[in-house]
Amino acid sequence: MNMLKVDLEKCNKDGICAAICPMDLLQLDPQRGPEFRRGISFLCNGCGHCVASCPVGALDNPKSPLSRHTPIPSGFAPDPQLWEVILRSRRSIRRYAEEPVPRDKMLKLLDIAHYAPSGHNSQGISYLVVEGRENIDRLRAIVIEWMQNLFDTQPEVANRYHMPAIIRAHAKGEDRILRGAPAIVVAHASKSLLPATTSTILALEYAELYAPALGLGTCWAGYAQYCASEYPAFAEFLKIPSDRTITGILMVGRSLYRYYRLPPRNRLDATWFGEKPARAAK
Ligand SMILES: Cc1cc2nc3c(=O)[nH]c(=O)nc-3n(C[C@H](O)[C@H](O)[C@H](O)COP(=O)(O)O)c2cc1C
Repeated sequence: MNMLKVDLEKCNKDGICAAICPMDLLQLDPQRGPEFRRGISFLCNGCGHCVASCPVGALDNPKSPLSRHTPIPSGFAPDPQLWEVILRSRRSIRRYAEEPVPRDKMLKLLDIAHYAPSGHNSQGISYLVVEGRENIDRLRAIVIEWMQNLFDTQPEVANRYHMPAIIRAHAKGEDRILRGAPAIVVAHASKSLLPATTSTILALEYAELYAPALGLGTCWAGYAQYCASEYPAFAEFLKIPSDRTITGILMVGRSLYRYYRLPPRNRLDATWFGEKPARAAK
């Protein structure tokens, strides 16, 4: 049975839907229009390329229903200059206002995050929001406990990642782990989800890039993430089920400061295969 619904009055049989399907699952019948090739509709991962690319909106796929697709305004074209500023002005925020992150803003941020690409469109990333000084301080204390253990057992590793200084700062009441952020987003996924880590990185980066539009700033919590992957107490405190794993952690809050300049980076290193590298510009 053809799972696809085709509005034959609208369908112009241009075959775009079949050509664009990443798994080559569709074929174009001259009378019936697009349909799944026999016996393989179960392979459809619901990415929605077929529905989204139909210029006349003739195609509906229950795995990515037309009714849930948002039309893109006609003539929309991303502005390169604007996008350069958006991408290059994103900074890691380490000084936060104390006020909590309003829940509607947090939900919007995570909503955007969950549109990021994911391996085989598996999605499957869940987000646990941790708020409240007491909870966040407890997490920070767990990270310090883990750092101290690491320093006692593998001092060379702890030193490589500057952990003694972080432990000393903690003793003085300074938070160099979660940076006093009023909210922490903990992404988690099933241990059996193969692309979970990469999918999480992309999703949290969507959140990072979108955050300034909501008046928010973010920072990757690499130390907390490292701890979560090595020290069970972290996931236990958060009551993450044992069949799931923490795949990424992001601090979120309103930045106390703003930035006026886009930073430089190291010189771009890009070459074309088979060609001599161009001499670096001075
Ligand atoms: C995977 C990853 C983990 C990070 N972990 C931390 C962290 O634990 N603490 C912190 O202050 N910054 C952390 N950062 C932020 C980087 O230090 C920052 O991206 C880098 O210095 C460049 O600065 P910018 O993000 O402001 O452009 C992390 C960044 C990434 C990508």
